[in-house]
Amino acid sequence: MKFFIDTANLAEIKEAQDLGVLDGVTTNPSLMAKEGISGSENVLNHYKSICDLVDGDVSAEVIATDYEGMITEGEALAALHPQIVVKIPMTKDGIKACKYFSNKGIRTNVTLVFSVGQALLAAKAGATYVSPFLGRLDDISMDGLNLIEEIREVYDNYLFETQILAASVRHTMHIVNCAKIGSDVMTGPLSAILGLLKHPLTDSGLAQFLADHAKANS
Ligand code: E4P
Repeated sequence: MKFFIDTANLAEIKEAQDLGVLDGVTTNPSLMAKEGISGSENVLNHYKSICDLVDGDVSAEVIATDYEGMITEGEALAALHPQIVVKIPMTKDGIKACKYFSNKGIRTNVTLVFSVGQALLAAKAGATYVSPFLGRLDDISMDGLNLIEEIREVYDNYLFETQILAASVRHTMHIVNCAKIGSDVMTGPLSAILGLLKHPLTDSGLAQFLADHAKANS
């Protein structure tokens, strides 16, 4: 399973990249705003800085909601850097734009996906990635993992090449569960990735090894 980090924070991206397990980055307009990035030139420069930091795909989301606007914006984003994947909302115009980009060989990530039907349409339109929002479904007491399992089944039935990118991952167990059900990618915060390191028996075992070594060498 590929590991993407879901942030526009350069320090966090660098920390994940330095760990050696990072495959890409996803951003969205809220994450860019959280870092205080505004104005189209600053936004484009920030995407370039992210691409320079990581070896892998960087999802950059269009702001336009109409077909023509998405095409203009998406083409500018794709031209910015070969690592850019154009992130498009799951709407009628978004699906049309996805098909257009797919025909032109521009990679896409269809975002804000909350149903199997939406994921099916995104795959039919040639999306590179489809992003079901796991955490936001859990937030409203719906089963986000079950949605990913169902999308997996449908994609496997027809050998769709669209990759399932489990988004809105909030914690470490989400990552583990996504891996168990065969999600191709997960995107989550640095804290969830670092959480995979932790086990109390690892900590106590290491402390014991070091204490025994110190005793034998004193
Ligand atoms: C997906 O690409 C989104 O950026 C993201 O995963 C949304 O997560 P949230 O629900 O924690 O905001």
